[in-house]
Amino acid sequence: MLIEAKNLSVSYDKKVVVHNIDLHVNKGEILSIVGPNGCGKSTVLKSLTRLLKPSGGDVLFEGKLIKKISTKDIAKRLAVLPQIRQTPEDFDVETLIRYGRYPHGNFSGKLNDEDRRIIKWALKQTGMTHYKNQKLTQLSGGERQRAWIAMALAQKTDIIVLDEPTTFLDLSHQLEVLELIKALNKTENVTILMVLHDLNQAIRYSDRVYVMKRGNIIAEGKPEDVLSSKRLREVFHIDSDFYTDFRNDSPHFIAHRMKVEDHDSKCSAKRKKAIQ
Ligand SMILES: Nc1ncnc2c1ncn2[C@@H]1O[C@H](COP(=O)(O)OP(=O)(O)OP(=O)(O)O)[C@@H](O)[C@H]1O
Ligand SMILES: [Mg+2]
Repeated sequence: MLIEAKNLSVSYDKKVVVHNIDLHVNKGEILSIVGPNGCGKSTVLKSLTRLLKPSGGDVLFEGKLIKKISTKDIAKRLAVLPQIRQTPEDFDVETLIRYGRYPHGNFSGKLNDEDRRIIKWALKQTGMTHYKNQKLTQLSGGERQRAWIAMALAQKTDIIVLDEPTTFLDLSHQLEVLELIKALNKTENVTILMVLHDLNQAIRYSDRVYVMKRGNIIAEGKPEDVLSSKRLREVFHIDSDFYTDFRNDSPHFIAHRMKVEDHDSKCSAKRKKAIQ
């Protein structure tokens, strides 16, 4: 087990937004967390990666309390791509990626041959070689996204944690990023923990998923078992028709907005049951 959260709670001021959850990340897997806006996904990622202090419970990295591991040691093992990133005004792409190498160096800022080779590799993997001297502020949203992913790649860690890695990307680049993530996982055995909004992509690219609702984990398991029509209705309030994606041999669904009367009648049935 690479990361384990035990009885984890997280609060902002006094408001508890994650309630006593247990979660783990196995070595070598692609794990996704899904759930509606505001259910606590980013908060969980932040507390798993030490960006946020939990209000209760523990986070362990390879069995050690993560809060006891030095920042430099963690940065060698774990790369994070947060959901909201501040773009340093005057950085060009290569400078950003170079930051990914800092945890491995002596902080003098000098690059060795291996650093240079890895930076080149990260640029190539993300299709950013031609943009390497371009300022981040002069890139499109998608190009910028790929530059940040390149930085995470350059860190050469055992695990990469990505919060909505496909935001801002057109469909072709979304697939490119997810295929890249999958390839890294398969060929370099990099463990992946990510938050995805596109549930079909979560089904297709994850080995395992956690489903969150209002700060709780309500389901965990193989995506095809966990993301059923019934659950999509319960968590996302959508009706879904499932088909088989024969090319990838995985389920794929089309979502429909749940009819308001369906929702209302379900709610009133529940209410009636509760009164009885
Ligand atoms: N810095 C903060 N201060 C106070 N409340 C916050 C803060 N960040 C998030 N929250 C609240 O905590 C809850 C969980 O937020 P979080 O960002 O983890 O959700 P999320 O599942 O990642 O949502 P999204 O899908 O929109 O990214 C939300 O109700 C949000 O309003
Ligand atoms: Mg989020």
